[in-house]
Amino acid sequence: MKTYDVFLDYYDQIVRSINNPIEDEVEFLVEDCIKQYKPETKTILETACGTWVVAKELRKSWYKVIWLDISEKMLERAKKNIWASDLVLADMTDFDLATTFDTILCNYNSICHLLKWEQWQAFFDMAYKHLDKDGLFVFDINTVYEFENITREFAQFYNFWEDTVCLEMIKNEGIYEWIVKIFKKSEDWKYELIQEVVRENSFPISKIKKELKDKWFKILEMVDYHYGEVTAKSERVYFICKKK
Ligand SMILES: C[S@@+](CC[C@H](N)C(=O)[O-])C[C@H]1O[C@@H](n2cnc3c(N)ncnc32)[C@H](O)[C@@H]1O
Repeated sequence: MKTYDVFLDYYDQIVRSINNPIEDEVEFLVEDCIKQYKPETKTILETACGTWVVAKELRKSWYKVIWLDISEKMLERAKKNIWASDLVLADMTDFDLATTFDTILCNYNSICHLLKWEQWQAFFDMAYKHLDKDGLFVFDINTVYEFENITREFAQFYNFWEDTVCLEMIKNEGIYEWIVKIFKKSEDWKYELIQEVVRENSFPISKIKKELKDKWFKILEMVDYHYGEVTAKSERVYFICKKK
């Protein structure tokens, strides 16, 4: 089973509604990133777009946006809200759209779904290749500090009608694994347990900074999404960069 196949039915409500209201995040992306650092932006590529939550908000603007994701199911859902021609099924570590954009976004720790450092490097290469000169590149990570905390302290339960969803995280051979347990009520009133694993990884901020600079990006700002200033205890960090 592919990542997010079953969890997808609950994903928007748990991950993008209860835990992180999307409007605040899109306001940050548009007002504090795009309008501040690349106000002339007309075209945007949103990589790892997911189901459309950011897209829905961006669509209210006048930007021309192309959305890319590796998951057919995610894009299938997104299709209900976005023109299919603006959706691209592709791996963000290896794609060629034969065009460039003013701004590239990769939101909500999507980069952490790339488990190997070489994949992060390949994604930076792709972003560089698909940006105009002076183009803006914005992505965020869950820090190693955050993942280590979650593996120690985190278990959450959510009830949806008759179903219950439980989220936990373990560390397995250096990779952080969300264990998603869905207790689904069947027609004969029995519960079926469906389990899905979503794998993520992260790397030290210093290593990411060095790589970005080596790949010819200028880092304009790094922002702790919750507290502003980035510290050793930051949980979620945005990197706002410009192609040199
Ligand atoms: C946590 S979701 C975030 C979705 C969206 N960016 C948001 O803000 O809600 C991560 C997304 O990354 C996508 N993804 C994971 N690996 C990918 C890859 N190699 N290339 C493109 N998308 C990928 C998943 O399919 C999923 O839709």
